Amino acid sequence: LLNLFLNKPLQIYRWWAPVYDAVFARLFAQPRRAAIERLDLLPGERLLVPGIGTGLDLPYIPTGCTVVGGDFSGAMLAQARDKPTHAAVSLLEMDAQCLPFRDATFDALLFALILTVVPDGAAAFREGWRVLKPGGRAVIFDKFLPETQRLTPGRQKLGQLIQRLGTDPNRHLSEILGAPPDLNVVSDEPALFGGQYRLVLLRKRHPAGNEQLDT
Ligand SMILES: C[S@@+](CC[C@H](N)C(=O)[O-])C[C@H]1O[C@@H](n2cnc3c(N)ncnc32)[C@H](O)[C@@H]1O
Repeated sequence: LLNLFLNKPLQIYRWWAPVYDAVFARLFAQPRRAAIERLDLLPGERLLVPGIGTGLDLPYIPTGCTVVGGDFSGAMLAQARDKPTHAAVSLLEMDAQCLPFRDATFDALLFALILTVVPDGAAAFREGWRVLKPGGRAVIFDKFLPETQRLTPGRQKLGQLIQRLGTDPNRHLSEILGAPPDLNVVSDEPALFGGQYRLVLLRKRHPAGNEQLDT
């Protein structure tokens, strides 16, 4: 409880770890499954899941894929180790804002409830995008402040309270994505709670000259 008052959102996940599945597994099961389906993963493909948490995505990953799941919290990762899955999974402690992988390592990325949790969501997205291969896909499942909605003082105060529980409800997706020249937004759909939570599918374009490879 001390963490709540000291406002250390990263450490708060030590507290969430034992109860996270009981609170969130059912609530997010349907959009979680839909997010993974949007990636259209093929056998042999490599998927990166930054901030994999307790591994609630793992049961939905198709057979034959390789998954690298990273998280800052060892306590959350410990819960992920027991999850049933058909994929070959490696779980690593890592900071999503600074990934220990070379450029263009992964075929697909899954950002589920992470870009609004890390201190710098734009840095986490940039890092994921860097390690994604040209032609690769990324899916984001998260809650964002609607682009047209201004941050009122009331919403700002509420946001500060919610941040103490480990997530920021007041981020705009556009600020997180920035404007990389190879970014293609394939779809952006409401996922839960009247569109507060969204499912966004992105594709990384091939460099100019190789556009014919884009499908
Ligand atoms: C809301 S949980 C989401 C977990 C999982 N992606 C899911 O969909 O259930 C956020 C996760 O992000 C992790 N996290 C927070 N900061 C991080 C960072 N800088 N790098 C990697 N993971 C981080 C937390 O430990 C926690 O497991």
